[in-house]
Amino acid sequence: MLTAAMCAPDHGRLRPWRFIMISGDDRRSFGQVLADALQSRQPSATPAALERECAKALRAPLIVVAVAKVAQHQGVPAIEQIIAAGVAASNMLVAAHELGFGGMWRTGAAAYDPGVKSALGLAEEDAIVGFLYLGTPDKRPPPRTLPPFDAFVSHWGRQ
Ligand SMILES: Cc1cc2nc3c(=O)[nH]c(=O)nc-3n(C[C@H](O)[C@H](O)[C@H](O)COP(=O)(O)O)c2cc1C
Repeated sequence: MLTAAMCAPDHGRLRPWRFIMISGDDRRSFGQVLADALQSRQPSATPAALERECAKALRAPLIVVAVAKVAQHQGVPAIEQIIAAGVAASNMLVAAHELGFGGMWRTGAAAYDPGVKSALGLAEEDAIVGFLYLGTPDKRPPPRTLPPFDAFVSHWGRQ
């Protein structure tokens, strides 16, 4: 999965991605970080809401926090570095599925929360591009129906 991630297209070979792995009992501590952050954002959050937030960290055996560490670079603007980290995360998910695991990419307010970033050892300017919840699926997702491609594709030409 990391091999797939590290092969993401990457302007300038900056490798702006970082992956923070959270597993086992550390997920409980991370759940507490999520709950504390929710309480700071919403001081009126109910105990039930805080408990739900805490339990989010236990949704899968492994959480991969995919991060973009954006460097100042003349030729590679921040957006390209964030895209590269996003593609690395996506590659990781595709590899997980190919290997028979399942994964879900989530963000939510926690991804933008300074308290969560700080607890993960990140700087405020670092971007959490996603929390990848990885594990062995206990059921198959329903087949998806895709909209007609015409709505998303056009052809440009002079003739
Ligand atoms: C950047 C990003 C953030 C996402 N955040 C969430 C999220 O917070 N909650 C959620 O339910 N789905 C989120 N998704 C979508 C899911 O990962 C997933 O794609 C969606 O539920 C559809 O499932 P499927 O891709 O297996 O069909 C996010 C996707 C991306 C690319």
